[in-house]
Amino acid sequence: MATRWGLCGAGKISHDFSVAMKTLPPGDHQIVAVAARSLERAREFAKKHSIPKAYGSYEELASDPEIDMVYLGVLHTEHWRLGLLVLQAGKNMLCEKPFAMNSREVGDLIAASKKSNVFLMEAIWSRCFPLHREVRRLLAEDAIGDIKLVKASFGSPQLHIPRSVEKELGGGALLDIGVYTLQFVLMVFNGERPESIHATGVLLNSGVDESMVVVMKFARNRLAFCFFSIAVSLPNDATISGTKGTIRVLGPMHCPTTLEVNGKTTQYPLPEPSLPLNFTNSTGLRYEAEEVRQCLLKGLKESPRMPLSESALLTEVMDECRKQVGVVFNQDSQ
Ligand SMILES: NC(=O)c1ccc[n+]([C@@H]2O[C@H](COP(=O)([O-])OP(=O)(O)OC[C@H]3O[C@@H](n4cnc5c(N)ncnc54)[C@H](OP(=O)(O)O)[C@@H]3O)[C@@H](O)[C@H]2O)c1
Repeated sequence: MATRWGLCGAGKISHDFSVAMKTLPPGDHQIVAVAARSLERAREFAKKHSIPKAYGSYEELASDPEIDMVYLGVLHTEHWRLGLLVLQAGKNMLCEKPFAMNSREVGDLIAASKKSNVFLMEAIWSRCFPLHREVRRLLAEDAIGDIKLVKASFGSPQLHIPRSVEKELGGGALLDIGVYTLQFVLMVFNGERPESIHATGVLLNSGVDESMVVVMKFARNRLAFCFFSIAVSLPNDATISGTKGTIRVLGPMHCPTTLEVNGKTTQYPLPEPSLPLNFTNSTGLRYEAEEVRQCLLKGLKESPRMPLSESALLTEVMDECRKQVGVVFNQDSQ
């Protein structure tokens, strides 16, 4: 039986997610409904993507008994409020990154999922890509020896996008794109907590971070170095350096198709989209949708690729980075 999805939000990422779903077998995945703040917008989106039901409120979507899994594709600042609505209605949920604005909010979402006994995952789609599965396999096999240093960058000029720069919309490089570099490091070190975190950043007038450099030290003298920016382009790649070799995930590291292991390159091509996309390589969203389906079929309440404990640690690391560079959101004082 197909996994029946409901989309919460009819914005840019929900569009790309819907296009990616079209690359999967319809017998496995169906989008049965979409909800937006306005019914007109939801209807327009539903028509474009051939979705049977459109709702003008998120509450209606959360109470639709036909839906197995809600995809939450709204602004970061809405993840906590709408995430709680969905989870408390007893629905499974895949929540866009960043999971929420801070550790308090993430803790509430995790607690609500446990209380309702439903599946919950932060949509760190990178981890579901076939290339990332290969990276994990290589690491598990000790293919490049002892890991000494991990480096990752992500830079994308997006100072013209309101949700990237405005504090009330959850702006800043860290929460939007830096999150991908930090989660990469945590993946390599298997969810270990860093021994130390040093973050330095440059802020915009709005008070959110334009660019940041983060250095982390892990036990046994292992280092990680992440840098990210919403002002400039960067290589957007990631390198894992070990005593016996090097693994390079070529840009875009958050949705990668090219892997280099000790100089040998392998391609992991993506399916072509049936409609123009808003973001790079978005047909790769198919892999997280399939990961969610497989978890549901196994009766899991979280994904082993992005466990809730790692989402909680990732958020703690981001809280610490924000504290060190001086980015404070209204949500931090609630
Ligand atoms: N996985 C990825 O590669 C990827 C890429 C881009 C974004 N994202 C994540 O997806 C989320 C949405 O990003 P997006 O680029 O899709 O954003 P977007 O199109 O600007 O907005 C998404 C939705 O958020 C709601 N929204 C917009 N402005 C709002 C406001 N002022 N107050 C309350 N709600 C508002 C709207 O919902 P309605 O439709 O209901 O009006 C809108 O459709 C973010 O958390 C982002 O980090 C992930």
